[in-house]
Amino acid sequence: MDERVLEKYIPMESLTGEPAAEAETGRKLYVETYGCQMNFADTEIVNGIMGKNGYDITENIDDSAIILINTCSIREMAEARVLQRLTEIKKYKKKNPKLVVGIIGCMAERLKRDLITKKGVVDLVLGPDEYRKLPSLIDNLIDTGEKGIAVKLSRVETYDDILPIRKEGISAWLSIMRGCDKFCSFCVVPYTRGRERSRPLEGVVNEIVKLEQEGFRDVTLLGQNVNSYRSESHDFSDLLASCAIAAPGLRIRFTTSHPQDLSLKLIETIAKHDNLCKYIHLPVQSGSDRVLELMKRSYTVEHYMSIMQSIKSILPDVSLSTDIISGFCTETEEDHKMTLDIMREVKYDGAYMFKYSPREKTKAWQMEDDVDEETKTRRLMEIVELQRDISEEKNRQTVGREYEVIIEGISKKSDKMLFGRTDGNKTVIIPVNGAKPGDRVMVKVTKANSATLFGEAIPVN
Ligand code: SAH
Ligand code: SF4
Ligand code: F3S
Repeated sequence: MDERVLEKYIPMESLTGEPAAEAETGRKLYVETYGCQMNFADTEIVNGIMGKNGYDITENIDDSAIILINTCSIREMAEARVLQRLTEIKKYKKKNPKLVVGIIGCMAERLKRDLITKKGVVDLVLGPDEYRKLPSLIDNLIDTGEKGIAVKLSRVETYDDILPIRKEGISAWLSIMRGCDKFCSFCVVPYTRGRERSRPLEGVVNEIVKLEQEGFRDVTLLGQNVNSYRSESHDFSDLLASCAIAAPGLRIRFTTSHPQDLSLKLIETIAKHDNLCKYIHLPVQSGSDRVLELMKRSYTVEHYMSIMQSIKSILPDVSLSTDIISGFCTETEEDHKMTLDIMREVKYDGAYMFKYSPREKTKAWQMEDDVDEETKTRRLMEIVELQRDISEEKNRQTVGREYEVIIEGISKKSDKMLFGRTDGNKTVIIPVNGAKPGDRVMVKVTKANSATLFGEAIPVN
């Protein structure tokens, strides 16, 4: 079936007779973003593309002529939230039938034209590699009433030449590569984001220099698997070193690394440059070799632990975080206990913890989702509680020590307090002392809980 021409729009001119005035109000764009940091970075790219084409970005949905929802497919819940949101957006469309509603991102790529045929409110569907087509598909929709769909994945698109529109602030995301070739058996990302491809080193370095000039203080380099970064003969360590040298006033972080190919060179590069954060996010997923094998993670617990040992010996003050999935297919109580064991052994500063959610197309979709919901939830709770204890223990060890904190703003809980972050990505609260967002303050930690450090600024003499 032709996915276009499902619903006719009344051309704007016929309503007002004044196309120019209509164009004005028709150029306000509101983007709502779900999912991982890559999606948030992509929204800034979308804003960049649309800004260049004369659209104004608004943060007020009531004001907008175009609503785009940048979506995530990683777990069923992520999709359910967006589908629920679409029912609310229907109300906006009822009030303003000319409102353009688009689904972009991973759900667009996964569900394609179904979003248009099954959800009457949706006018546009664009996958993550098709954002350059947004302006023309919107024009076409307005001119002819044809709904637009563009969901091809690209082997080359990196949006290297697009200037993202970011909100002013302290922290910025910077995409360095797109896609993933790992095909972990539980994961939908290789299907929604396509094949791995890297931005040229020069483009990334130029952008990070600009971010420093614009007043950002903390930049996270993004990719699903940054260790696979390649630009001519340069690998990810070379890129990090180039960024560290080119933007000495920035704290630089990255996410995510895959344990299979995190190199010694990378750890040594982080050690060598003061402005590369001593913080590594290294998803383990499970502490059982049997489950890791079924997950197609391509490493063993022994290999993972040997990387952890190298990290800890070369970067003694490193902060570590991870991702864990509970209740993957066939996971036994013994496998689950091995996951708790590895958490105790590594002592992560933080963790992102999830219940396994089967995803269509993935290899694990063919396997039986045989851990019942109750067991998955109970195991997840045990993982969460253990992590809370470990985070608290690790944070308590910081009491009495001094850290450089970059101030981000007034604390959400009290206007008498400021909050900021350490190099290790820990949130710190200190009394208001005249420091402004972006200032670097030396702080002595006085107390800590599992989520936050509290301290006092050390006067500079
Ligand atoms: N590229 C990153 C992860 C991206 S997805 C990496 O490999 O580390 C972020 C996390 O979501 C994953 O690390 C995993 O823990 C979780 N996840 C992915 N697919 C999932 C699924 N089907 N069910 C539950 N959690 C999942
Ligand atoms: Fe998904 Fe694995 Fe790729 Fe991460 S490395 S995005 S978990 S397939
Ligand atoms: Fe979700 Fe897509 Fe990111 S599936 S986690 S938004 S890459």
